[in-house]
Order: sequence, then structure tokens, then C-alpha cells
Amino acid sequence: MPELLDYEPVIFEPARGEEEPLSPVQEEILQLKKERNAIILAHNYQVGSIQRIADYVGDSLGLAYKAAETDAEVILFCGVHFMAETAKIVNPDKKVLLPDLEAGCSLSDSCPPERLAAYKEQNPDVYVVAYINCSAGVKALSDVICTSGNAVRIVENIPQDRPVLFVPDQNLGQWVAARTGRKMRLWPGSCYVHILFTVRALEKLKSRYPDAPIVAHPECTEAVRDMADEVCSTEKMVGFAKNHPADRFIVITEAGMLHRLHREVPEKTFIAGPTENCACNECRFMKMNTIEKVRDALKNLSPEITLPEEIRQAAYTPIKRMLDWSR
Ligand code: 13P
Ligand code: SF4
Repeated sequence: MPELLDYEPVIFEPARGEEEPLSPVQEEILQLKKERNAIILAHNYQVGSIQRIADYVGDSLGLAYKAAETDAEVILFCGVHFMAETAKIVNPDKKVLLPDLEAGCSLSDSCPPERLAAYKEQNPDVYVVAYINCSAGVKALSDVICTSGNAVRIVENIPQDRPVLFVPDQNLGQWVAARTGRKMRLWPGSCYVHILFTVRALEKLKSRYPDAPIVAHPECTEAVRDMADEVCSTEKMVGFAKNHPADRFIVITEAGMLHRLHREVPEKTFIAGPTENCACNECRFMKMNTIEKVRDALKNLSPEITLPEEIRQAAYTPIKRMLDWSR
């Protein structure tokens, strides 16, 4: 007997029929994009209307590669601040726009550069692996960057003879340490969105959809990850859903991911992961970007990401190392 759910699950059913026509604002954005010679890069957590007009939608790793490769003059980055900052670090001569400069990240905020600098002073031989969800200041103090998509591979590559500090996400760090067998000190940071998914809430949902495999992001807690059939980055969730024989999936990550899955795997059903209080979970920072702000950013060529050159250069080295190691 399935447990009673005290909410209606958020479900993306298989797509039927044609997509709706673009709205006037979306049309305006496509026109402005041409005029500005701009590329629009969007993270998988952006609202559906933004994903629809983006040139590329993906995870942090895919977006970092796209940013590094583009020859557009303007990069309009629809994601959060650290992602746009990464695009600027690899493209010092391009204009990098973020629709709302306040779109931060709680995980990034949990590791201020001054605290990491103080730790390094006390532990001079430590090798710092920084998850890309951190500020340019933290990247500048790190040896190599990783994303959830390549963290295992990056950690397998780091020198064996050094103590390792993984910043800022303890959950991802713990998952990578278990996968690689590498002992790592973990910075005590976490993503406020992913730690809200709980075993109790998930068990209730699973009892209603026992046939639906669970796919979870590694930023979730270990107890939630242990319930998942697959733990992976947002990009890898697309491949998992495509290749798995199941018709429906429970997706334990930020709810914007369902838009991406729905577009890429239109014949399958996606059920949003629940928290204790809500049928799905959204990142308030990711959702600060709206379609109107995207239009305004292209119109005004602002707000723009800027960085002190010294920090940018220091942050570039570990990003470059990551891009080289994960090719
Ligand atoms: P991905 O790199 O898997 O897209 O994750 C980014 C992120 O911010 C997760 O919260
Ligand atoms: Fe940061 Fe979490 Fe939002 Fe990702 S979902 S941008 S880690 S606060």
C-alpha cells in the first residue's frame, strides 16, 4: 500500500504535440543576440523559457568548455555568479553578462577566500581541489578545479604524496573520496538546496512510484545518495534517463533539471524529488534570472562580470588544469 503523500508530486509527463511558439520577449532576445554577436549559455537549473532560447544548456563542466571555445564577442551566462565568473576567467577579453548579479550560491559563500588562505598558511603542503562552485578568490588559491561531472577523474589524477583538501562541498567530497579511495579533508560546506532532500520524503514518493529509478546529484547527503540508482552530475542525468529501460524517473536535484530532461527525453516521465515541506526544490539564486532580465542584459550589455586581473590569472591555472585533465 503506497504511503499517503501530503502533496501532489511535480511531474513532467511525456511531451505531446508541438512546442508552443516563442513569446515576443524570446523573439526579441534572439534578435538582440544576433545584433550583439552574443552566445547564450544556460545551466540546467534555469527556467524553461530561458533554456528554450539558449545556444547551449548544460552542466558546469559543459558550460566551462563552451565558454572556453566560443568566438562570440559577448557571453550571456544564464546561471549563477561563480559560473559566469568562470566564463570570464577563461575569456578576459570578452564581455561576460549575468542577468542578475545577485544570483550567488550558498555553497560558494560557505568558503570565503580569507578562510581558505588562513588554512593554507597553517597547512602549507596541502593540495587543494576546489569544486567549481566557489568564488574566483578561492579558485585562485586552489591547485585544481573539478565539477560534479569530472570530480572522480580529477581526484584520480592528483599527486599521491600530498594531503588533499576538498572545498567547499562536503557531500560531493565524501562521494568522491568513497569512489576513488583517496583520503581527503573536507571543507564543511553544503548546498542549501540539495541537503533539503530527505530519506523520509523520498521513501514516501518511492512507495507511490516503486518502478521509477532514482537519480540523485552528488551534492545530496549520503543517506539520500544511498537510496539512488544513479548518482551523477546534471548532464549525466540526461544520458542515464535516455539509456535506462524505465519509463519514469525520480530526479533528486533542483527542479529546473526537469525542463532539460523533458526536452531531451520527451517520451519519458520525470518526477521531481521532494523535500519535507515541498513537492520539489528550487534554487533561489538560479531563479533570480528571468526571461525579461535576459532581454535587458542583452539590450544594455549589463550587468557585466569584472575581475581583478591578478585574481583572474591565478584562478585560470587550476581551471586550465581541469580542462586539460578531463578531455
Ligand atoms: P552540475 O555541474 O551537475 O550541473 O551542478 C551544478 C550545481 O550548481 C549543482 O547544485
Ligand atoms: Fe549553489 Fe546549490 Fe544553487 Fe547549485 S543549487 S547554485 S550549489 S545554491
